[in-house]
Amino acid sequence: MKNIDGIEITENSFSKRILNIKIKDEIISELIDLFKRFDLTAIEYKPFTRFTVAKYLDDLTNNELGKYLNDILRDRKMGCFIIGPKKITNEINDIFLVKLSTAITHLIGTPNHDSMAGKFYARFHVKHEDKSDSYLRKAYINLDLHTDGTYVKEITDWLLMTKLEEKNVEGGESVMLHLDDWEHCREIYKDPTGRENFTWGSPKSKNVDYKVEHPVFFEDSNGLPQISYIDQFPEPKNMKQAQFLQNLSDALECSKKKIITRLHVGSSIVANNYFWLHGRKPFIENRYLYRELLRVRGKFFVENNS
Ligand SMILES: [Fe+2]
Repeated sequence: MKNIDGIEITENSFSKRILNIKIKDEIISELIDLFKRFDLTAIEYKPFTRFTVAKYLDDLTNNELGKYLNDILRDRKMGCFIIGPKKITNEINDIFLVKLSTAITHLIGTPNHDSMAGKFYARFHVKHEDKSDSYLRKAYINLDLHTDGTYVKEITDWLLMTKLEEKNVEGGESVMLHLDDWEHCREIYKDPTGRENFTWGSPKSKNVDYKVEHPVFFEDSNGLPQISYIDQFPEPKNMKQAQFLQNLSDALECSKKKIITRLHVGSSIVANNYFWLHGRKPFIENRYLYRELLRVRGKFFVENNS
């Protein structure tokens, strides 16, 4: 395991493909001070300021963390880590966590504009009651395994999800599946329908007024399968495409290889968006249920430029 001063790195107990990265107090307390230089408006309005907070984090880890995070995300055998402060104190509030998430993502690449929020990140709630038009905020329904960015033009190489806060929560665990662990991958991948173009739209709340076309499966540079898929947004053109999607959905949801894990408040899960799928188990009903999440999606830096 890599050794970086001020960082504790261990294998996740549910999967050897996921690393747990804990930032020790000495780095967190320095970051708390350094981050005070910028308020959230500066972070949101000035892209270069986001890189400045990322540089603070990298400098405090002898400029080793950024490279290491990139290596993990691009490594097909891994591609995922959970990162956060080792100890949560009163000073670690939502504003600090937005800045920390900004720092982490800007060591990996450039974030995409999130149309739902109108900025480079989105904060959203999951509560007991919901009137929205997508599964994202439906607390009591399974959020099926999917990748992000299926309905936008921007390249979505990776995603970060940070748990900002939660109260009265039971259930709602994160569900993750790596394509190379998926027992049905070979069988579904060999169906040529998966490499046809599908049309992808999105509901109103996403604020994306166009549709895109792309296949569900495509190859990486080593000939390994990659996936861009979510159940709600492809618009099948015919029965063959619809049946392919139904088979794919069934084969994902029945997988015995899913990793079910609970993300702590203050922690972020970061994953390669082409060979990891993610979802969420339903919450146990509670009228005071409250969870707030932050998400950022983006693309890797161009090689040799990170
Ligand atoms: Fe997602």
